Amino acid sequence: MYSNKQQEQLEAAASFVSKQLKNEPTGHDEAHINRVRQLAVHIAQQEGGSLFVIEMAAIVHDVIDDKLSSEWKLSPHDLKQQLLLWEVDTRDIRYIMDIITTMSFRHRHMQHQPVTLEGAIVQDADRLDAIGATGIARVFTYAGAKGEPHYTEGAHQGTVLVHMQEKLLQLKDLMNTRAGKQLAHERHEFMCLFIKTWKEECGLTDE
Ligand code: ADP
Ligand code: NI
Repeated sequence: MYSNKQQEQLEAAASFVSKQLKNEPTGHDEAHINRVRQLAVHIAQQEGGSLFVIEMAAIVHDVIDDKLSSEWKLSPHDLKQQLLLWEVDTRDIRYIMDIITTMSFRHRHMQHQPVTLEGAIVQDADRLDAIGATGIARVFTYAGAKGEPHYTEGAHQGTVLVHMQEKLLQLKDLMNTRAGKQLAHERHEFMCLFIKTWKEECGLTDE
């Protein structure tokens, strides 16, 4: 499926990114990258697209994210240099950079549509990792790192509950691919059940 060279490039990138994101506190750790990589490959097996571009984009997708503090963040220029250093094809580099610069949460919520199938697949994989049991775990990790409360009286912005209700519950309808939609369905249902039970336990009513 892959040439030896491509296999080496993917391994080099994975080990580089795992070092770069070591101890990242807001849920962009190596485990997130590994899950997104696996999900992206799984979706690609059903939807097609260039598997190498998809897998490489999944591996490097978060290292240039504006949400990261400078300790973990790379500039797009530096990431491009790394890809060149591993001798990734320059056309593939352009594809990969295009995908990852248009898929941040900010863009997601501006309903930004990726222009390529590869971009659609990596974005779906990243979105899937923000919902379901994993998504719930990551929200609390993020909130812990930022000192954000679980909820407040009056449902103000900047709480876990509001983030779940206003952002994460929308993601299933923003999935690009059929395979992604299918996977999102069960994760969405689980999140709904969690929110319902959680609100009951906390005595929170719908507002
Ligand atoms: P990703 O790494 O999947 O591209 P983000 O960088 O936007 O997504 O967010 C990382 C994780 O932190 C996600 O699981 C997201 O739900 C969560 N998160 C982002 N913003 C908030 C917030 N304001 N409150 C709680 N969790 C958040
Ligand atoms: Ni991500």
